[in-house]
Amino acid sequence: MPKEVFGKDYQFLEHKELLTFEEIARLARIFTRHGIEKIRLTGGEPLVRRKLEDLIALLAAIPGLDLTLTTNGSLLAKKAHALKAAGLKRITVSLDSLDDAVFMKMNDVDFPVARVLEGIDAAAAAGLAPVKINMVVKRGVNDASVAAMARHFRGSGHILRFIEYMDVGHTNGWRMDDVVTAKEIIALINAEAPLEQCDPNYTGEVAERWRYRDGSGEIGVIASVTQAFCRDCTRARLSTEGSLYTCLFATTGHPLKALLRGGASDDEISDAIAGVWRKRADRYSEIRSAETVKLHKVEMSYIGG
Ligand SMILES: C[S@@+](CC[C@H](N)C(=O)[O-])C[C@H]1O[C@@H](n2cnc3c(N)ncnc32)[C@H](O)[C@@H]1O
Repeated sequence: MPKEVFGKDYQFLEHKELLTFEEIARLARIFTRHGIEKIRLTGGEPLVRRKLEDLIALLAAIPGLDLTLTTNGSLLAKKAHALKAAGLKRITVSLDSLDDAVFMKMNDVDFPVARVLEGIDAAAAAGLAPVKINMVVKRGVNDASVAAMARHFRGSGHILRFIEYMDVGHTNGWRMDDVVTAKEIIALINAEAPLEQCDPNYTGEVAERWRYRDGSGEIGVIASVTQAFCRDCTRARLSTEGSLYTCLFATTGHPLKALLRGGASDDEISDAIAGVWRKRADRYSEIRSAETVKLHKVEMSYIGG
């Protein structure tokens, strides 16, 4: 969220515009009728939402759901135990460098790396395991941190995942030249610690899995720019104000809030979701071009990554 766009004059949504926890949980139940097996809470920063544990408890009560969350880690040391107690199963923490200056250059945040590392330790101690760590790699900014990150987390039991820098939204000024490819990242780490590729855990898994040949753990690479996986994508995204997005790179969503607040039955909402999903034909990453990059896409901070 660049400060020049989301500065102090930015008009954020009023609280009443956000879905309530009960509305989110109702939608989650309806989505499970369509085969949703996993829910990831993301953001924005999910841990700044007051009483998030109450939402987790509501979602955890839905049978058969794998429930996880992605966070910048700044409040994780404080909250890990409560999140686990509320029913969260696993967690992903974003960390783009071990070097404070590089980390802050990537994210423009005002907390140090040490705080994120404390959060990761607290999450593992609370049993939110295996902890996944997301590192977005941007050429010329944090690519020199790749080897140190791999070294740091090798043997820790945590799964470090490298993500190709994506053109989500339009405020990040993305250029193809900024992308360090998954192939480059694997070559870099393999030169220091030999790797071999492993089978995916399930069809449509976004991260390609690699393990250290000496048994000291695994890493992942998410190559959504250079190896698009649109055809296997099964992700639906729900914005905080209740719009359904069928693609991370969408320009518009499908509002469900009016149905929720207008007395629609679960069956009616379920039909509306099915109607959107059946028409879905998104393949942004497969057809990315100089033209599509310029589209007024929804921001990553709004759609959640
Ligand atoms: C948008 S964040 C939201 C959750 C939380 N605030 C966090 O920092 O993890 C979700 C994930 O998207 C990743 N991300 C952000 N911008 C990205 C980009 N341009 N390309 C690829 N991944 C990106 C972040 O690193 C993070 O792991």
